Amino acid sequence: MCGIIGYTGPLQARGIVLLGLSQLEYRGYDSAGLALFTEDNKIYLQKKVGQVSELEKNCDKSIKSHCGIGHTRWATHGGVTDANAHPHMVGSVTLLHNGIIENYHTIQKQYGFEGLTTSETDTEVAAQLINYYYQEYQDPYLAIRKSIDIIEGSFAFCIMFNDIPGKIFAVRNVSPMVASATEQGSFIASDVTALIPYTRSYFVVPEYHILTLTDTAIEMEDMKGNRVEPELMEVSWDVEAAQKNGYPHFMLKEIYEQPEVFQKTVLPRLLGGIPDFSAEGIPDSILEECKQIQIVACGTAMYAGMVGRAIIEQKLRIPVTVSVASEFRYDTPLIDEHTLVIVISQSGETIDTLAALRLAKTCGAKVLSIVNVKGSTIARESDYVLYTHAGPEIAVASTKAYMVQLAVLYLITGRMMYVRKKASDEEIREFTSNLLSSTDTIQHMLDTISQKVRTQAEKIAFSTDAFFIGRGLDYAFSLEGALKMKEISYIHAEAYAAGELKHGTIALIEENVPVVALATQDHVFNKTISNIREVKARGAYVILITKEGVSVSDDVCDIHFEVPVKDDCFSVFPCAVVLQMLAYYTAYAKGYDMDKPRNLAKSVTVE
Ligand code: F6R
Repeated sequence: MCGIIGYTGPLQARGIVLLGLSQLEYRGYDSAGLALFTEDNKIYLQKKVGQVSELEKNCDKSIKSHCGIGHTRWATHGGVTDANAHPHMVGSVTLLHNGIIENYHTIQKQYGFEGLTTSETDTEVAAQLINYYYQEYQDPYLAIRKSIDIIEGSFAFCIMFNDIPGKIFAVRNVSPMVASATEQGSFIASDVTALIPYTRSYFVVPEYHILTLTDTAIEMEDMKGNRVEPELMEVSWDVEAAQKNGYPHFMLKEIYEQPEVFQKTVLPRLLGGIPDFSAEGIPDSILEECKQIQIVACGTAMYAGMVGRAIIEQKLRIPVTVSVASEFRYDTPLIDEHTLVIVISQSGETIDTLAALRLAKTCGAKVLSIVNVKGSTIARESDYVLYTHAGPEIAVASTKAYMVQLAVLYLITGRMMYVRKKASDEEIREFTSNLLSSTDTIQHMLDTISQKVRTQAEKIAFSTDAFFIGRGLDYAFSLEGALKMKEISYIHAEAYAAGELKHGTIALIEENVPVVALATQDHVFNKTISNIREVKARGAYVILITKEGVSVSDDVCDIHFEVPVKDDCFSVFPCAVVLQMLAYYTAYAKGYDMDKPRNLAKSVTVE
């Protein structure tokens, strides 16, 4: 949430900051701002409500600058106004921030800052505090160190001192920040997407370290003033991966990337047809010895966990609990050293998921995380990591990351079947072969359904409500289908266990209410069909998804999608494509920007 970028070096900073902001815009897009050191060492500040393009229009194009910082905001404290946009300038300090300062009110009172602010943000208080100590010590490091000691909460700050031209100072706690010193100058940003036009080499800024960016180098010191060398990493994807490459939206591009990233995630982890994680240093003992599994995540990642639970319980008969991270972190969870905690996160930075991970470790559990972003905080703090190889996911609504999170959960299931001797090697090979051939079923859906889905999307686009129903595994996928629909089309969409509707919710079914019904599980097929008939009898417009070749009478549904799967366990993969596309084309029919849905942002680094 919130994207930040800083640059100092020989190139023109205005263009670099604006380009970086447009690349980070998926992290927040209600307003944007920048501050540039001008050639006469003054600070030029501009901030505007709206997207980065609005800021760009309002920027003075004649400004020459070689050092600047920029911010794209997702509002937390204070409404969406020009004044609340970052950077904030107080005295000698110009600062921008990603995170939340929890004790800003106390600081305001204690230091007498009340009534002196020009915005309603928590951030301006940080600028006031750093400025206060800068006036006292005339030393940027001391001012930052003193302030950081007092500030509670999460933060990634980029700071310019108005009388220290050409330098950017930075420090973070929890909120992410990466940096790179290159021949073209020094860069700092919320994530690597903003750095890849200039470099593939970068480092993750460690928490509570102060960085100084100059045009030729980045120096880093810890809170005691000791010099620290950064641990360099390489970006593993190409610059094109973060471009639309001819697609109208990132979301559609990412939907179409799914077969490729699925294969990249699964194939290297199969040894003789059996899932194998030895190359990633995952010991079999954690999979073999645990007595229960706790999955923790948020949103789409949590819904991937729901599918994981169904499949692990079905194949291994061990108890699996799935928890929403924001609840789990304040619970007293029933986990111990015999529990394997699986944490799932695309960004690896979601603050609630991170807090849940930390809590799990204090309970003695081993934490295995499924993460997309290399070197992210969740990846670094977990005992073990299995990376998904989705590449950068830019669209706010997650699609390809969900698909590969599922793939990894299926691989874990396969490995557990193997180490716990729950199936013969032959059976496990068949399981993994079905998993791998899901690449083809995903591709098949992409190749064949788009026009049909589009027609359906146009039919339902102006409905106020929609329901997604299914039983068992189908219910687990329908949760994600409903989330996708509501977050980008703004249709109120609810997922229901098909048999549960009649206990209340069926009251909402009336003429033409769309019901997306999933019936891909043989053992409950007839029961689900009966539930579909119940909504059909009340006028619902039914979009039915079943396995290929299943015969259903015409009066059960209005439109029928068939997914080509041999084994029910694997129907999630092609079904997910139908649900993602249905959401995408519904938002498209309404003319919405599905890459930047209202009120949302990628990478939720606030509680
Ligand atoms: C929805 C979506 C979110 C994320 C959730 C967790 O499309 O993307 O629900 O899944 O915010 O994010 P990560 O996976 O980064 O922890």
